[in-house]
Amino acid sequence: MKPTLVATHPSTLSQLFEHERKGSIHSQWPETFNHLMRDALPTINGDKHRKIRKIMNPLFIPNAALNERFDVVMDCTQKLFATLAEHTLANQHNADDFVQLRPQALSWAFDIILSVVFPKGMIDSTTHQSLASNFHLWVKGFVDMNVANLDNPESLLGQAMIGKQNLIEIFTELTLECIDQYNAKTLDPKCTMFKLLNAVNIIHNGQMIKIDHEQNDAAGQKVELTMEEVADNLTLLVSAGHDTTASSCCNIAYCLQKYGDNEFVQQLKHDLQLLDAKNELFEFDTISNHEALDHFVKEVFRCYPTVTFLQKRFVNDCVINGYTVEKGNTMMVNWNMMNQCDEMFEDPLVFDPLRWAQNPISKKEYYPFGLGSKKCVGWKLAYLELKVLTAMFCTQYDYELDPNRVEKGINLLSFMDVHGKFASLKKSD
Ligand code: HEM
Repeated sequence: MKPTLVATHPSTLSQLFEHERKGSIHSQWPETFNHLMRDALPTINGDKHRKIRKIMNPLFIPNAALNERFDVVMDCTQKLFATLAEHTLANQHNADDFVQLRPQALSWAFDIILSVVFPKGMIDSTTHQSLASNFHLWVKGFVDMNVANLDNPESLLGQAMIGKQNLIEIFTELTLECIDQYNAKTLDPKCTMFKLLNAVNIIHNGQMIKIDHEQNDAAGQKVELTMEEVADNLTLLVSAGHDTTASSCCNIAYCLQKYGDNEFVQQLKHDLQLLDAKNELFEFDTISNHEALDHFVKEVFRCYPTVTFLQKRFVNDCVINGYTVEKGNTMMVNWNMMNQCDEMFEDPLVFDPLRWAQNPISKKEYYPFGLGSKKCVGWKLAYLELKVLTAMFCTQYDYELDPNRVEKGINLLSFMDVHGKFASLKKSD
């Protein structure tokens, strides 16, 4: 059996991702994950992966695409804070008068990604409820490593596979509904589904579905996908697009409170409050270009990484830092170790957002979202969400966290499980 190597230095990581870009390295997941994700982006490689990424990247990466969905991020974030304040009020006479942030953060990020992907009004409350409960089943399956449980409905994995099948059915129905609207020219052009349908042909039950592509698009350039592939990727997209961001939401709330006396954090709050007083803060350009907000969010990612590890498999012999790594080896990328590497970060254990302004080298060597061909599709959306969230925490709401319940969730995706009391700072009229 070939050994597992561990990447502990950024130079290893950049070379690793370069080999991945050239196709010599694939992601390696436990077998359970492969069943749960099936034909979704992280499990596929080579040509098919490249084709789907070619469609997906323009939907999420350019500023113009994000700017179009800024209203969704703002609305959902306002709703998050209003809900937290309501729950705090409702809880005030309870023995436990704190509100757990994580479930609300999950709803927040879930609603954002659904509203980005699908047109307004398409996800009614029954579908929403059904998606949420099946995602819950599906996600729990990722901790069951016994693939013999795949067909066992008593096990976590067996339950997750049932949840997965339900999700595939719901996403198939939603896709068919989007195609109807697209063909009737009533589908909102801002939603991801519109742009996706523009770029694909879909085979369903052995037949090509009729999609009336816009005239100016050459039909030959469409990527052909099966409905199962579309549904698998939508399942992954909605899942990847909310669980990680919700965890980061908890970490941000934690850091703002824990490092509230930090000079950088105080200055950041002051700057944001000044911009807010001039009604200039909650605009796409201000939030996107605000460097100090960026440095704060980056430092939260560094100190509290949401994705803590990835595993990659060599499908060809590769040279890394002068050493030949033979085909068949695997390499683990351990973000907890990397982010505390003192060759890369001075005083790595200190929470210091200013380091991002002062050390341009680390900008090139730091990858909370991966790099290369498999880099996170939603990295810019995630930054936007977390910057809006930080700006609201600093200007619109006041909160205190329960100091007795700040625990590290033991999870593949790591987060601070915080409980707080939240109140609006704005006086009601
Ligand atoms: C704090 C938030 C997030 C973090 C830390 C994060 C991190 C990551 C990481 C580390 C990867 C794997 C890269 C690799 O395999 O080398 C990844 C992949 C992915 N992420 Fe994210 N992500 C976040 C938010 C999002 C959002 C909001 C979306 C959706 C819009 C998203 C969609 C995806 C997809 C589709 C992939 C698979 C890409 C592929 O295999 O080609 N993620 N993410």
